Amino acid sequence: MSKKIGILTSGGDCAGLNAVIRSVVHYADSLGWEVYGILNGTHGLMSDPPRVRQLTPSEFDGTILRQGGTILGTMNKGNPFAFPCADGTTKDLSDDILKGIKTLGLDAIIGIGGDGSFAILKQLADLGGFNMVGVPKTIDNDLGCTEVSVGFDTAVMVATEALDRLQPTAASHDRVMILEVMGRDAGHIALSAGIAGGADVILIPEIPYSLDSIAEKIQSVKAKGRNFAMMIVSEAVKDENGNPLQKTFADGQKRLGGIGDYLGEKIASKTGSETRVTVLGHTQRGAQPTFTDRMIASAFGVHAVDLIREGEYGRMVAWQNRKVVDVPIADAIATYQEVDTNGTLVHTAKALGICLGD
Ligand code: F6P
Repeated sequence: MSKKIGILTSGGDCAGLNAVIRSVVHYADSLGWEVYGILNGTHGLMSDPPRVRQLTPSEFDGTILRQGGTILGTMNKGNPFAFPCADGTTKDLSDDILKGIKTLGLDAIIGIGGDGSFAILKQLADLGGFNMVGVPKTIDNDLGCTEVSVGFDTAVMVATEALDRLQPTAASHDRVMILEVMGRDAGHIALSAGIAGGADVILIPEIPYSLDSIAEKIQSVKAKGRNFAMMIVSEAVKDENGNPLQKTFADGQKRLGGIGDYLGEKIASKTGSETRVTVLGHTQRGAQPTFTDRMIASAFGVHAVDLIREGEYGRMVAWQNRKVVDVPIADAIATYQEVDTNGTLVHTAKALGICLGD
């Protein structure tokens, strides 16, 4: 039976989102369905008429598969249940969104998002009775029930390449190089890239650090005759007093940032080493997707369409044991995936002599 489905991207962008959209469009079209791309996440549904455009396979000839970001646009602020107004108050716009979905006459919506977006979409779906399935994406890789989310692999590749590029210049100038990477609450990017990129020190929010341990490691590297040291730190690592390092932007939004500079000064004065800091920022999100992200995104898109075909709603596609499965969205939101401090990667890092700050 022919269907009309919507697809939206929500939360911070990442590499591989376009590959999910492409996969959904091609498979749905082969089933004779219509696909509508909803622009700027749930914000596109708040407008009257809703901001959407029909997506057809001719648009997805392969170029878009290779592109970072999302052709649909996305939003990671403005919760529709408490939408910020110009006068400083908030307004519940959930009814506008539900009206938008009704106007479009969609049989189901595929939401590509992280835990925050899924919590909002699920609340809306429960309230308005619309059908929804989820595709997990986040460079932070902190969503539960899936071993990997779209965007993580590319972010780790970008961070690893940054270490590759910092190492020769660190060696040329006898410096300690600190690379600050993203990861709002979890240290997955720092840990994976740190191992792959040969870091001497990896700091993640899951493991408390002491400046003395870091200084000791740097001195021991020097004592063994190496003239430089490499360090990677997750933006979510706190200062010595347990306070997060944050920046407030002109619109009042707070975002993590600054731990690299903070540690750079401390380490320079403790070890006497010349120290430089690189903040990788959004380059981790806008890069061309790796093969892994393209492959997982494609498989996720197909499975999301299969779920709609079978009428299995309220579920998120997930990657487990080398295949795509699906789980209740509620379970994915409820089980946050931080770095397992007793897991393989922490053990690997320690066995390689990498200092984790403890
Ligand atoms: O959650 C994804 C993420 O990229 C975090 O790693 C980072 O802290 C945050 O989003 C940055 O958000 P923004 O795009 O608003 O700067």
